[in-house]
Amino acid sequence: METLTNTPLSGEVLDEIIEKHRGRPGMLLTTLEEVQEKNPLKYLPCETLTEVSKKMNIPYTQVYGVATFYSYFNLKPQGKHTVVVCRGTACHTKGSKALLDDVAAIVGIGRGADGSDSSYTTSDNLFTVRTVACFGQCAQSPVVEVDGVIHSNVNTQKLLKIMNRIKKEKPKK
Ligand code: FES
Repeated sequence: METLTNTPLSGEVLDEIIEKHRGRPGMLLTTLEEVQEKNPLKYLPCETLTEVSKKMNIPYTQVYGVATFYSYFNLKPQGKHTVVVCRGTACHTKGSKALLDDVAAIVGIGRGADGSDSSYTTSDNLFTVRTVACFGQCAQSPVVEVDGVIHSNVNTQKLLKIMNRIKKEKPKK
């Protein structure tokens, strides 16, 4: 499998994005969205926020405020694939804790660097694992979302199938 590296956006790419959105309504939001989208690890590093602040002539506190207000923005590197395990009551009673442990075993990590199991990214940046309080699909619990696709009534076998399919995916050229 490939390994994603943490390469920051070049100054030219950043300038291009900023110029594209300059003067438009909601320019800070749309600029940050595109900057994050273009980052190979789908996040906004502190240095990038500083650069955006300087280049757009917007106070850093305002840029940081937007980046932390919207849950869409990530301040930490994200894996190529995202697995979200629901830890709400309905899913918990149907075994979501065991599924979370299964995911950890499959991606090869037990806990995040801070010891929590609510969000972590593997060292090769291929997987980010998160939990959510409820997907609003309790009748189909336990629920797991993989790369934006919701999977219901998940059990270990089903999870293994999904994860194996992803692990076998060829990297896009
Ligand atoms: S508790 Fe998992 S979807 Fe509601």
